[in-house]
Amino acid sequence: MATPYFTQDNKTPDVSLSSLSKPELVSLHKGLIARIRELENLMQVVSKGKYTWEATFDAISEPVMIVNKEFTVERANLATAKMGGEEITKVVGKKCYQIFAGRETPCEHCPLKTTLANGELAHAKLGNKIHLQDFDAHAYPFPNEKGELRSAVLYYRNVTEELRLRQELIQQEKMAAIGMLAGGVAHEINNPLGGVLAFTQLLLKRVTDAETKEDLNEIEKAAIRCKKIVQELLDFSRVSKEKEKCLVYVNMLLEKVIPFVQMEIRSLNIDVHFDLKPDVPAVMAVPNRLQQVFLNLLTNACHAMPRGGKLTLTTSYHKEAKEVFISVKDSGMGIPKEIQNRIFEPFFTTKDPGKGTGLGLSISYRIIKENGGSIDVDSEMNKGTSFTIRLPAAP
Ligand SMILES: Nc1ncnc2c1ncn2[C@@H]1O[C@H](COP(=O)(O)OP(=O)(O)OP(=O)(O)O)[C@@H](O)[C@H]1O
Ligand SMILES: [Mg+2]
Repeated sequence: MATPYFTQDNKTPDVSLSSLSKPELVSLHKGLIARIRELENLMQVVSKGKYTWEATFDAISEPVMIVNKEFTVERANLATAKMGGEEITKVVGKKCYQIFAGRETPCEHCPLKTTLANGELAHAKLGNKIHLQDFDAHAYPFPNEKGELRSAVLYYRNVTEELRLRQELIQQEKMAAIGMLAGGVAHEINNPLGGVLAFTQLLLKRVTDAETKEDLNEIEKAAIRCKKIVQELLDFSRVSKEKEKCLVYVNMLLEKVIPFVQMEIRSLNIDVHFDLKPDVPAVMAVPNRLQQVFLNLLTNACHAMPRGGKLTLTTSYHKEAKEVFISVKDSGMGIPKEIQNRIFEPFFTTKDPGKGTGLGLSISYRIIKENGGSIDVDSEMNKGTSFTIRLPAAP
């Protein structure tokens, strides 16, 4: 409420107090009290507004910060502090790239500069090497009261999971397409190939000439190898039927598979260690198909240790997730980082021609997926590789 005793700027009474009469002083006192109440109310509105804005920004689970031309953080929300592993009070004044990525220099492709240069929204994909996550970074122009553009709002959206799902979808679609194609081709080749093999074996019985016999033996060997590949292609494209599935105890199945690779284990001098937890429940799967997965992983592990090593088979049960974990770990050569995302692709192999078709892991991937599970790889060069399978426990 304005009173006549206040100046235009509402600061100091425009009168000498000694010249005022008592009623005037009382009126001035009342006016001052009214002014103080007004200011108190205003302060409350301002502090409520400040709280609402801060709470709004803190409620956003992704990092949001106001950053100036020098990449210095002027304001930030709680998610920013959490990402940088700092207390919120220590974030202001630091460089955005220190907080976001623990870097000493600005991130490559940072959208801040573009926004400050042309006053428009800019956007870029940034990787966070500390948490190994991918972010979509958006920079919005943030002019000050005078309309000068010296800062921008930076907003980071974590897209790691989104990218992983997209990648998985592409992988699944690719597998399905190749599966159909491979299955069709394999089916067509299977019968004539059977004919080649049968006639070769018939001829082998008939001919007596040693040289022809040797040639026929080569044809037979090649035809058998082709049959094996065709069978693998058919396996790859085959989808297990629900009714073929039954309760499978992975501990028992793993022990059953070992004799199949016994020859490699002995000849390569490999130590096999079992760490099979007794409380692992059954999973629903087609036993032969799951056995094939274990066999593929064990064979690969043996091949990765040509000068011997340690093979560890572990199983465990994760109660909360109701998942069975199976891991096949070797102390072999490891898989280079740049090919790790290709090893599940059909026909991807680093083995010499004739030594591998590159179908082992893609078949395994497919079988695990059709059982509602997942298969992941973790590998370090010259230290070893471990494949971890997760399967839902049978209800
Ligand atoms: N345990 C491992 N250690 C090192 N490299 C591995 C391991 N397992 C798989 N790999 C790599 O992944 C590639 C693909 O494996 P995959 O089992 O699909 O095919 P392959 O073993 O080459 O041939 P196939 O299994 O069809 O005979 C291998 O060629 C190899 O480079
Ligand atoms: Mg293999």
